[in-house]
Parts: sequence; C-alpha cells; structure tokens
Amino acid sequence: MTFRDFMSLALFHEIHGFYTQAPSIGSSDGPFDTSAKFTAFGFGVAQAITQASKIMGGSVRVIELGGGTGQLGACIRSFLTIPHDYLVCETSPGFRQKQEKKGLTSVETLKGLDPTPTIVFGNEVLDALPVHRVMGLANEEVCELFVDVDEAGEFCEQTGDVSTPALLQRLTDEHIHLGRGHVAELCLDIQPFLQELKRVVNPGYIIFVDYGDKASNIYSYHHRNGTLRSYYQQQQIHDPFFAVGQQDLTADVDFTAVMSEANTLGLAFAGSTSQGTWLMNLGIQDYIGTGKDFLSRQQEVDVLTKPASLGSTFDVLMFKTPGLPDGPGLHPVR
Ligand SMILES: C[S@@+](CC[C@H](N)C(=O)[O-])C[C@H]1O[C@@H](n2cnc3c(N)ncnc32)[C@H](O)[C@@H]1O
Repeated sequence: MTFRDFMSLALFHEIHGFYTQAPSIGSSDGPFDTSAKFTAFGFGVAQAITQASKIMGGSVRVIELGGGTGQLGACIRSFLTIPHDYLVCETSPGFRQKQEKKGLTSVETLKGLDPTPTIVFGNEVLDALPVHRVMGLANEEVCELFVDVDEAGEFCEQTGDVSTPALLQRLTDEHIHLGRGHVAELCLDIQPFLQELKRVVNPGYIIFVDYGDKASNIYSYHHRNGTLRSYYQQQQIHDPFFAVGQQDLTADVDFTAVMSEANTLGLAFAGSTSQGTWLMNLGIQDYIGTGKDFLSRQQEVDVLTKPASLGSTFDVLMFKTPGLPDGPGLHPVR
C-alpha cells in the first residue's frame, strides 16, 4: 500500500488507529504536547476569533478543526464574549467523546453543514494529514516508497512507480528536483480538505497554526531524508513502523502546496506570520494581568511567543473568502 494509506490507517484505523484511541495529548503520560496545554494560547486564539468576527460584523459560526482532547476548544470558548456557535470537526470518535464531555459539540465531517459566516481555526491539524513518500532516482526519475510486509511479518519499505501522476505534478509545480536517494513527503489530501472548508465558509476566515515551511526549504538537500517523524511517550522517533497505532506520525506542512491549493479553490491568502508575532499582535500580554499567578502566566506567554521556544516553531497561515480584509493578528492592535 502507499505510505499515505498506511499513515491513514496508523492514525485513524477504526479500532487501532493512534488518534482513534484518543491519546492524552498534553498530559505527562501522553505522546506529545501541543500549545493547547497553555491557557494563554486559548486566550490568544479567542482574540483572533473576536477580531475576525468584528470585521465580519455579526454572529459567526466557529469551526475548530481537529479539536483533540477538547482542552483548547473549552479554553477558547471561556474567553469568547461575541455571539457565536462553536463546533468542532474531529475525525476521531474517541476525541469527539472527550470534546463532548467538555461541553463542546463535535461532528465527524463538514458534510452536513450549510455555508454560513464562519471562522475556521485548526492547531496542528494539517500536519496530521497523511502523506505519500517519494524518492529521487538517477536521471531525475522519481519512485514512490510503499509499505509492505516482509517474510518475518514485519512492516518494510518497498519502492515502485508512483501511484498517481499527481505526485510528479506536485514536484513539477513546486520546481522540486530530488537527487538520488532524496526522500520527500507529499500531501495530496490538502486539496479535498480545503475544498470542503471552502464550501462551508461563506464568508469567512480559515486560520491554521502549524509547523512547516515553503516547498523550496522543506524539499531542500538539508531535508534529504524527508521530514517524517513520529512521537511516542514524549519522544521523537524516526521509525514509522515502530509501535504502529501507539505513536503519532507527522511531517512538516508544505505551505507552498497549501497556498497553491487554496488559491486554485478560490480562497484568497489572508496573511501569515510566526506564532509568536501573531499572538503578540493579538494582545496575548493582556492574559498576564496583575494577579498573584502573573509569573506562571508570564511563563506561558514566553513559551508560546519567544523565538527560541514555540514562537518560531509554528507559523500561522490565514485564508479568506474574497472581499474580506486580511486576517487578524498581522499588525499590533495598539
Ligand atoms: C496533532 S492533533 C492536534 C489536536 C489539537 N488541535 C491540539 O492542538 O492539541 C491533530 C488532531 O487533528 C485531528 N484530525 C486529523 N485529521 C483530521 C481531519 N481530516 N478532520 C478533522 N480532524 C482531523 C486528529 O484526530 C487530532 O485530534
């Protein structure tokens, strides 16, 4: 099978999938942390949603993509004072249960939803979309890395012709030349994912926070082994076949592909910046306050915004329906 199908099963198999089992993201016995563990992050995102809804002028629907444990959604809601409906779109039934326990309404897909004024927010969702793996050969040719099972019954890698010309087209569109042995992850699921969002957001904003880079960097010689990695019990691992279903699989998001697919679908680019700059522009410092816990609040803000910490690890990528001004958090509020 393609690595894309293997990754999809490893994450979302109906019983054994990593996300299906609703791991305790953000807790000490969990696989990894996300910014969702910091209340200050929910505060910052709530400022972005508030500013976007003011631009749109009226009640909005907020769709949080891939809400995980529901901690972030509950936190964002606690800071929202604008009129809104809050909905989580979450693939994992286990996570949907956790979200509902936190008072959130969750749906599995966007399929049943009507187009309406909407603000979409997704933290670390694009990096969970399954990826194909390709590798450069001699003479500018490219093969795909498939997943097979060896004689001992262990997963193994198998090379073959690419499963779809769309992979070669992506490389051509992005002017990527893979030298011999250079591995790259390509995500074709971005297109259907954005297409469904485009259908329900009318008008509105789509805001992603994630790790990634433009194609020329992600597919540079510096990343000649690709960016695929896994997380298991708070450790980064570089074996996709280790503890399948117990470890997260992820790859850097190709921002060039996201922007290009969005553009093709008729979504306008609404700006991008680092997470740190975005949160500072949104006024995250107001979260610190003057209460007796101001030191721990200051620490949260520092972790989320400092370039040496998460401030430059994550980027914010925003899209809008045509006619709206650029997204919130690109310039300081005061
Ligand atoms: C890395 S976790 C991030 C969870 C949460 N946003 C956070 O910051 O802690 C990725 C989340 O996206 C969900 N997910 C992955 N693909 C999805 C899709 N196509 N639609 C909705 N949710 C998805 C996963 O089940 C999981 O909840």
